[in-house]
Amino acid sequence: MNRDIVCIGAGYIGGPTMAVIAKMNPDRKVMVVDINAERIAAWNSDDYNLPIYEPGLVDVVREVRGKNLFFSTDIQRAVQECDIVFVGVNTPTKMFGKGSGRASDLQYWEATARSIKEYAKGDKIVVEKSTLPVRTAAAMEAILNAGNDSRVEHVERVEKEGARFTVLSNPEFLAEGTAIKDLLDPDRVLIGGPQTEVGEQAMQAVVDIYAAWVPKEKILTTNVWSAELTKLAANAFLAQRVSSINAIAGLCEATGADVDEVARVIGADRRIGPKFLKAGPGFGGSCFKKDVLNLVYLCETFGLHTAAEYWMGVIRMNEHQQERIVSRLFSAMFNTLANKKIALFGFAFKADTGDTRETPAGTVARLLAEEHVRITITDPKALDNAKRDLSDLTDVVYEVDEYNAAVGADAIVLMTDWKHYPSLDWQRIYDSMRKPALVFDTRNCLNAQDLRRIGFKVLNVGK
Ligand code: UDX
Ligand code: UDX
Repeated sequence: MNRDIVCIGAGYIGGPTMAVIAKMNPDRKVMVVDINAERIAAWNSDDYNLPIYEPGLVDVVREVRGKNLFFSTDIQRAVQECDIVFVGVNTPTKMFGKGSGRASDLQYWEATARSIKEYAKGDKIVVEKSTLPVRTAAAMEAILNAGNDSRVEHVERVEKEGARFTVLSNPEFLAEGTAIKDLLDPDRVLIGGPQTEVGEQAMQAVVDIYAAWVPKEKILTTNVWSAELTKLAANAFLAQRVSSINAIAGLCEATGADVDEVARVIGADRRIGPKFLKAGPGFGGSCFKKDVLNLVYLCETFGLHTAAEYWMGVIRMNEHQQERIVSRLFSAMFNTLANKKIALFGFAFKADTGDTRETPAGTVARLLAEEHVRITITDPKALDNAKRDLSDLTDVVYEVDEYNAAVGADAIVLMTDWKHYPSLDWQRIYDSMRKPALVFDTRNCLNAQDLRRIGFKVLNVGK
């Protein structure tokens, strides 16, 4: 077996992860392949106009692209050349048939497994990087190692060459916006594999990749199912914390408590810790909702209905948070929003990313559109995605410049905590707006006192 690596899927997970693996393993060839030729062309572009935005990513790609990191659409060649095959294709929530709206759509995963099987010559270690339902690895192993291919040529090849596929799970815990930092200095790396001699060897081969820069004690190995479930459980716990603090936020608004103060004190308890206690517009991103729904589906499948309801509550709470933002705007703006102009500051699901998947700003924009609001959206990185997401809505204006976005607006709703928002010239913004001018800071990141002094009416989450 050689030490070279291919990753199928050049997305948010595959691209940055492989770039860092290549940087830290200069003696290995790392290939990233994708069926989307446009995406690959962007990864290969001369001006490094990469398909995703991540702080620091461009520097890593500049350093290793063309040396030991290669992007290509030639999946066949890459699978033949590299014996360690990572799979990072997307696994969206299934929107049809059994498990619709909850289960993962595994068609891309299965199609990818079948192409690996078709192209491989000799043994391969297949590593799940996509988040998948528990026991997917077992299904994949069954597909890969089944000698049931109708093409005699293939069966003979397998028998002659004894091609063997060992399937491991190596879930990725990176968060968007801090992907490179998380990859370079992870809390832990998790590798799950079969507890057989071959499985142990395969796990060691993947441990070796990470051991090039991650301290040994942070590389944790488990059985495959624990690894698969851990990824879902970790995201569900994080999502649950966000929903929990948002549930407290509503109560703070009703009682006069301040959610940031409550969070600070709760977080000072070392058993709880301070992270993921920031109240806001609710969680977004490609993973939390999908993974919690996946957990709900698994619980239901195994007859654990109360557990399923418990996790479903995390999602319901999240959706409620966005509905609450719009209903609070409604009451603060004299119970009519029709024909008023509202500027959304930020559309990305969090700062430092252009990603808008499941962004709370999308839900809020749609709820506002139902009220016939004239919406303007500004965001430093996510405007193209916003235009695509909301292409069915007429009457939405997209504006890069925040000051232009605010002109004539009745309200500004700050949806994403971009770092430069607090230092904008809020007096200038106020002067250009229609009065009374309202700011709803759903991230509690602006200085509300200063804004009030200027003359704004200010709303916050949890205060
Ligand atoms: C995806 C999933 O969303 C996430 O749940 C999982 O944990 C990891 O994979 P991400 O990298 O963010 O995360 O997805 P995306 O940016 O959509 O990238 C997936 C890539 O796979 C796309 O570029 C797509 O073109 C590619 N792909 C998909 C293939 O190359 N082959 C396929 O058959 C299907
Ligand atoms: C998450 C996990 O953190 C990561 O480990 C996993 O691999 C993928 O899913 P990501 O979706 O990139 O990463 O972003 P994250 O920083 O976790 O934020 C998720 C959402 O929760 C964002 O919308 C964010 O604004 C929100 N959030 C987070 C809060 O509202 N409050 C918080 O305190 C923390």
